[in-house]
Amino acid sequence: MKKKNKIIIVDDEKSVRESIKMILKDYYDLSVFTKGDEILKEFKEDMADVALLDIKMPGISGIELLKKLKTIDEDIEIIMITGYGTLDSATEAMRNGASAYVNKPFSKNKLLEIIEEKIKKRGKNREKKKKLLDLENVKKSLEKKTKDFYYSTVDSLLAAINAKDGYTSIHSEQVARYASLILEECSSFVKLIPEEKNIFHYLVSLHDIGKIGIPERILSKDGKLDAKEWKIIQKHPDIGCSIVSPILNPMSILKNYMCIIQDHHEKYDGTGYPKGKKGNEIPLFACIISIADVYHAMRSDRPYRKALSKKETLKNLKEGRGTHFHPEILDIALKVLENCGD
Ligand SMILES: [Fe+2]
Repeated sequence: MKKKNKIIIVDDEKSVRESIKMILKDYYDLSVFTKGDEILKEFKEDMADVALLDIKMPGISGIELLKKLKTIDEDIEIIMITGYGTLDSATEAMRNGASAYVNKPFSKNKLLEIIEEKIKKRGKNREKKKKLLDLENVKKSLEKKTKDFYYSTVDSLLAAINAKDGYTSIHSEQVARYASLILEECSSFVKLIPEEKNIFHYLVSLHDIGKIGIPERILSKDGKLDAKEWKIIQKHPDIGCSIVSPILNPMSILKNYMCIIQDHHEKYDGTGYPKGKKGNEIPLFACIISIADVYHAMRSDRPYRKALSKKETLKNLKEGRGTHFHPEILDIALKVLENCGD
């Protein structure tokens, strides 16, 4: 048996309540109240499809009640019952979200016709909302899948660096850690949400991904690089971009992070590589990574030299203020690195 639609009736006049009940009782599941306060105690979303409210009632008025019911269930269809002299109020009720009004005395057929029309309208509205919600859920699930795919691709690339060159892998992880600490200290002028900070950390760990394309004999050469080898090494930012751009470009927000790979060897005075950008041409993310990168490189044992002490490393960084490094970012970074524990 089909479930009956639910109707709420609120009217202080017994004769009106009774006549509405007589008309509707065979067709609908009715809840009857004599005043607004009574229904407000128990009203909740989905309690009814349609509410019939008297406009003039002692205590809370029909219009006030209409507003309160709509705040609890915005889809409920509300029909105002109007008597002589309350037409202005009926118009006001319509402005406040009522869907119709019926004048007293009303005919049985007219009342049933209006109620049926409003029940259908509510059904359609709810169906539309459900479809929108379903679409929203599909969108969220697709976004999650894209993000999961992105992170697993980054993980695969990190594994590829590790397989190629153990030092670059450890170096990348450490640079990402230092760079994230420095970024955190830049929070007064770089506002990032946690998700963006995560992306930054992940992409910094890929800053040397282009070294996959550099011959191993150059990467692990036990001595200084000659000019030709140095030229080859300088290609790694461009190689890195060509590896990563198919992942980053479809996610438009990530394009801003491409500089992490492209510009991490640019220098403030324009003597860096690959493009020789200078000053404010170098994006802030790249300025941060450049410092973290050099710090970790100096603090590591390399085939051609021993690791520098922390004191020497910080001294060398300071000497690059305004030449190699962005001066203000370096000032922030030095405080972070002095206290970073390694
Ligand atoms: Fe690099």
